Amino acid sequence: MADGIEIGFGPLEQSGQGSGGSGDLVVFVGDDLVLGAAARDVLGAPGADLVARAASSEKFKGRSLTALSLPAPSGVKADRLVVVGLGSEKDRAKTDWPVLGGFTASKVAGRTARVVLDWPGATVTAAQAGEFALGARLRNYTFDRYKTKKKPDADEKSGTALTLLLADQGAARAGENARTLSESVILARDLVNEPPNVLFPEEFARRASDLSKLGVEIEVLEPARMHELGMGALLAVAQGSVREPRVVIMRWNGGPAGEAPVALIGKGVIFDSGGISIKPGGGMEDMKGDMGGAAAVVGAVRALAARKARCNVVGAIGIVENMPDGGAYRPSDIVTSMSGQTIEVINTDAEGRLVLADVITHIVRSAKPKAIVDLATLTGAIIVALGQDIAGMFSNDDTLAGNINAAGEATGEKVWRMPLIPAYDKAIDSKFADMKNTGGRHGGAATAASFIKRYVEDVPWAHLDIAGVAMSSNASEINRSWGAGWGVRLLDRLIQDHYEAR
Ligand code: BES
Ligand code: MN
Ligand code: ZN
Repeated sequence: MADGIEIGFGPLEQSGQGSGGSGDLVVFVGDDLVLGAAARDVLGAPGADLVARAASSEKFKGRSLTALSLPAPSGVKADRLVVVGLGSEKDRAKTDWPVLGGFTASKVAGRTARVVLDWPGATVTAAQAGEFALGARLRNYTFDRYKTKKKPDADEKSGTALTLLLADQGAARAGENARTLSESVILARDLVNEPPNVLFPEEFARRASDLSKLGVEIEVLEPARMHELGMGALLAVAQGSVREPRVVIMRWNGGPAGEAPVALIGKGVIFDSGGISIKPGGGMEDMKGDMGGAAAVVGAVRALAARKARCNVVGAIGIVENMPDGGAYRPSDIVTSMSGQTIEVINTDAEGRLVLADVITHIVRSAKPKAIVDLATLTGAIIVALGQDIAGMFSNDDTLAGNINAAGEATGEKVWRMPLIPAYDKAIDSKFADMKNTGGRHGGAATAASFIKRYVEDVPWAHLDIAGVAMSSNASEINRSWGAGWGVRLLDRLIQDHYEAR
């Protein structure tokens, strides 16, 4: 699905060039209601006076993320004047640019608007304008592919056209980056939103394979090859489904030849019924989003390729469906993973770790990565622990964990580090095999992470449990869609800040 928005850039001097009042005009004020020079210029004395009087009559205080809309403003060349609040000086110093862009876009959805990025004491940089544009694009995204009858207002967002006006003339370039990055987030959102009857493993692999157009090297493993490799854990999960599993390996080689890659690994359970340990019916439909980790990896690799990132990255996703069936794996089965370690299946609903285990082993052995980041909608327990606004992070490496934390802060895709202690590892020891796939009632996210840790062979590694953030997200200024595309921006930033040659 498209974001239905066009964003252009221009110099502040163009602020007044609305053609005879067509289109909206957006200006910004802090809680002192003082307009910037460019905004004052375009509004003129009558316009400035109108803003002051309207603010007072509407009790508009210029608080952060509030807006005042004035239709047909007399004396101003615009169909509508929108005044967006930026809050106190302190608020303004820590402006979240994507959020401001998202909020602003929502106020002019479906319309043409000139946006005057100027206010007292600020010189908006190209990079900030780019982040603003990114937020506007992400806010405007909707997934309505399967609505055959558009509601009268469903089209509201399409046809939005913004011209961002600012002093810094490097903005068009930043805007281009924002566009490709937003497309990558939107790709991930689309994958999460798609239903599993459409997005079964083969189709998922096909969509990931489209990245070859951007120069990504694609390898798709089919079941025969998985058997050869000994991926007994992943195959056990898949065996209850009539849909064949796939593993997709995406190599972006933008760095020096022979340099060890960073590995990004995603859980791609296209539907998680729980299998024989079947889930309760209520809310089971949400389990179409159990491939949010894989979606984030595909989106991130796309983002890196689209901006020709100077790094070597290998993305790998295990795509399966977890179903109950006469041929399904069952509690008490013992399976042998590709690593050679055996696993006693206690609960077929703890399937994600089985899928990740084999994909991780394959990548550790074949790609010899210098770091691994895996993303998985792995446990309900992480949602209980952290809610829906922050992901859980488990890591065996303080530097990697610190870098991911910083990338989370920078992008707003926040993580919170959780502990890994020997007790969690002990909890998954099995009476019959090397380990079991659940660790009991307590510390469910941590015992799951400890399971994965047994497969990373001491490579610096971080596991992001994104069950709470990948889907069914809380509405935010930059996302109104069920699928969040969470992790694409975080991974892109992590690689840019720590793994790319400058
Ligand atoms: N995909 C689920 C985790 C999940 C739950 C993601 C809710 C998003 C929202 C995972 O495969 C699962 O079922 N985990 C079990 C593990 C348990 C059986 C040890 C869980 O969390 O209950
Ligand atoms: Mn499950
Ligand atoms: Zn699952």
